[in-house]
This record gives sequence, C-alpha cells and structure tokens, in this order.
Amino acid sequence: MKKKKVLVTGCAGFIGSHLSEKLIAKGYFVTGIDNLSTGKLNFIKKLKLNKKFKFFKIDLFKQKNLYKYFKGNQIVFHMAANADVKNGFLNPKKDIEQNTIVTHKVLEAMRKNRIKRIIFASTGSIYGEPKIFPTKENYSFPIQTSLYGSSKLACEGLIQAYSYGFGFDSTIFRFVSIMGKRYSHGHLFDFYKQLLINKNHLNVLGNGLQKKSYLNIEDCINAMILTINRNKNPIEIYNLGTDRFITVNHSIKTILKILNLSPKIYYKGGDRGWIGDSPKIYLDTKKIRKIGWKPKKTIEESIKETIEFFNHNKWLFK
Ligand SMILES: NC(=O)c1ccc[n+]([C@@H]2O[C@H](COP(=O)([O-])OP(=O)(O)OC[C@H]3O[C@@H](n4cnc5c(N)ncnc54)[C@H](O)[C@@H]3O)[C@@H](O)[C@H]2O)c1
Repeated sequence: MKKKKVLVTGCAGFIGSHLSEKLIAKGYFVTGIDNLSTGKLNFIKKLKLNKKFKFFKIDLFKQKNLYKYFKGNQIVFHMAANADVKNGFLNPKKDIEQNTIVTHKVLEAMRKNRIKRIIFASTGSIYGEPKIFPTKENYSFPIQTSLYGSSKLACEGLIQAYSYGFGFDSTIFRFVSIMGKRYSHGHLFDFYKQLLINKNHLNVLGNGLQKKSYLNIEDCINAMILTINRNKNPIEIYNLGTDRFITVNHSIKTILKILNLSPKIYYKGGDRGWIGDSPKIYLDTKKIRKIGWKPKKTIEESIKETIEFFNHNKWLFK
C-alpha cells in the first residue's frame, strides 16, 4: 500500500521532532511546520537530510494562506503550541493565540484541503484540579485553573465541532508531562539549569509535595503511531501516562542522586508551584491500554534518560 503523506505542526519541538522521525521510519512522507519559537533546528538536523521530510519555517498564527502548506496531506498531527504552562498569566493572550486560534487556523487549512484526519496533543491540565484519581477521560471539568489548560480545552471543543460539522476523524491525546531525550522545558530543565549555575543551591516552587505522573517520549510517540489508522468513533479521546505518580521531592532526590549533588533546598512554599499548577496529576489510561498500548519505561528511567541528555547537551541552557 502507498504510504500516506502526513503533516506535523511543531515538528522542531520536543515531541514533534521525535514524532516526525518515527513517522519517516514507518515509511510516511512528512511535511513539518515550525516557527522555531521554542523548537530547535538542531532537533531536525538529521530529518532535514531525509528526502521524505519537507520543512516549512512558518508561523501558524501569522502566516496568510496557510492552507497551501497543508496541500496533499492526508493526516495532520497538530503538536505546535505554547507549552509553557507556568507563565500563562504573564502574557494572557499567548495561550489563546498560540493554542486556540492556531488550532482553529489549522482546522480551517485542513477543511479547505479536504483533510479529515487530525491527531491532537492535548494535556492532563484540562482536568484543572480533579478530585478523583486516577482521572478518567469522561471526568467532568468543573474549573479551569490555567490559561494553558483552558486554551487546550477550547482546542478540543473546536476539534470536536469540526468532527460533527465537517466529518473530521479526530484523536485527542491528553498527556501527562513527557520526559526523555530533547526535553527542553519543565521542572527537570529548571532544576538542572539552576544546578549548572550553582550546584549548592536549589529553589523549588511549592512545597515539593505536588504529585505528578510522567511518561517517556518513546511511549508517548508509540501511542500516537498505534492509533493512526484506528479510530472506532469520529472522536476518540485518550489519556496518556504511566500507572504511577511521584512527588516533586522524589523527582529532586532522583536527579540529585544521578548528578551526585547535595545542594541546600529552598522551598517557596504552598501546595502549588504557581497559579494554575495542579497539586496532583494522575490519569487513568485503561482506555488506550485496551487497544494494546503499554508504557515501557518507568518514571525513574525517564528522569535518568533526561538528565543524561542534559549532560550531553549543555548548549540547551545557554
Ligand atoms: N511536553 C509535555 O510534557 C507535554 C504535556 C502535555 C501536552 N503537551 C503538548 O504537546 C505538544 C508538543 O509539546 P512539546 O513539549 O514538544 O513543546 P515544544 O515547545 O518543544 O514544541 C512545540 C513546537 O511548536 C512550535 N510552535 C509554537 N507555536 C508555533 C506557531 N505559531 N507556528 C509554528 N510553530 C509553532 C515551537 O517552535 C515548538 O517547536 C504541545 O501541543 C503541548 O501543549 C506537551
């Protein structure tokens, strides 16, 4: 069978670059779009040498006539977003523009090209501060606490409406935090950066007792690949995560052990790291496990892999 042409937005980012590589390895032709706002050319250096990969450095928010870049593709993996949850309230327009409006632009570019299959990177943050754990896909979302989560929930709504209105076939993944090679934002990045500057001093947002689940990048990509051609319903929503959570303190202990450091730790206090930080994220993943997906790496293995990646890529912190 002739392999499909697919488009990956955010192809130079942490998740998008791994996804593009895997799709190429599976025989797909990949068009990648990225504005390099947080993405790195270094992450797609090898990909750019591959004849099956075509790269457009464009901004999905600003670019006029976006639809022409989508032409000829059959599936869109929409990974581009402002993934910086912590600083949402410093620039309240950013999440709405880069996540919600960009997603609408992507959907319109797809509609104009009659592309009906979308695979979307949503987040466990859309559950706000749930009371039931592990949290299932059909849990209600009474209150949104972050602009990131609310903008992503709005994206999910738009994708669902396009599925009903225009016959789109949509898969929405709600990820916990992802770790592994090319990790370039999040608490491990912040801690490592601080320790590079001063190995004896570590500031921690919150009280260190926040509980979070994490997933390895390879397990995340495998889930998206598994579902490419198998949507039973026009809209499928899957949580993605490991069947464990750890505290921020456990994460710090693991990092310090790997780095063989023992800094003095200063806690900012409070049970949240920042406004909009959910004190506990732990998702129920039975739905995707039923179709044959299972994470292979533990949280500790993923932390180790990430720290080793940092040790070999200090340019990221400059
Ligand atoms: N990494 C995680 O832990 C995590 C968890 C849950 C959900 N997600 C979601 O997964 C997706 C990928 O996240 P990531 O961790 O790879 O983040 P990332 O910042 O590494 O990747 C996002 C990519 O999108 C690009 N981009 C942003 N705005 C753009 C625009 N207007 N036009 C073109 N390109 C643009 C960036 O340059 C970057 O390469 C995001 O949608 C994010 O919200 C990530």
